[in-house]
Amino acid sequence: MEKKEALYEGKAKIMYATDKADELLVYYKDDATAGNGAKKGTIADKGVMNNKMTAFFFGLLEKEGIKTHLVKVTGEREMLVKKMDMVPLEVIVRNVAAGSFSQRFGVKEGTPLKISTVEFCYKNDDLGDPFMNNYHIAALGLATSEEVAEIEKQALKVNDILKAFLKEKKVDLIDFKLEFGRLDGKIVLGDEISPDNCRFWDSDTHEKLDKDRFRRDLGNVEDAYKEMLRRLTGEER
Ligand code: ADP
Ligand code: TMP
Repeated sequence: MEKKEALYEGKAKIMYATDKADELLVYYKDDATAGNGAKKGTIADKGVMNNKMTAFFFGLLEKEGIKTHLVKVTGEREMLVKKMDMVPLEVIVRNVAAGSFSQRFGVKEGTPLKISTVEFCYKNDDLGDPFMNNYHIAALGLATSEEVAEIEKQALKVNDILKAFLKEKKVDLIDFKLEFGRLDGKIVLGDEISPDNCRFWDSDTHEKLDKDRFRRDLGNVEDAYKEMLRRLTGEER
């Protein structure tokens, strides 16, 4: 596999072309942003840890029947993935109130939700990733209603799998964001699953083990990522 030109540099990753037209190389950076890029910094070795954690979660999900874009891990910070036609949605699943849900609805952070909740944001940095519903998605032609139903189904299944797995590791899955794409006519899970786009709280102490430590200047950011990696894989970094 040959790494070719960078096709896209995002806030957390760089997507490179490869010698195969249908595969991309994802390079995980240490750069961290919050508030749609308003706050910028770096988290030492984040790229290495997120590459490992994403590979771990995708492996777990594949075993449970969820198709992902992962082909193989090719380096400390790099994985080979299937190139997809991305659905421009941030698919957020929530189990416990936190972040924008708490702000929008005036619910104290940490309040368990009566049902696991799926919400969509339009993936559009210029517009600040606005909240949208199924009608907006269809009205703008971002995805068909069948695709949206499939995305919801897969997102909730991912939630069930991750929640149960993490419980064993003494981690509560508060919420997370997924991105899906189209591959050979099917909806497939893409992007990443890491502390950058999940809220993980220690089950006993409720200590935050995710990017909220960076977003909210809570300190010990690297340690939180390291602790999550250790709980998932037993590996230290
Ligand atoms: P952002 O674009 O939000 O700054 P990243 O830095 O994580 O995010 O960049 C990764 C980009 O690659 C995102 O735009 C994401 O939608 C896209 N992407 C993720 N998986 C795939 C895939 N399998 N095929 C094509 N694009 C993908
Ligand atoms: P929120 O409470 O800020 O809406 O975030 C919900 C979850 O989604 C949280 O785990 C962080 C994640 N997320 C992203 O990964 N990217 C984003 O752009 C946003 C807004 C949230």
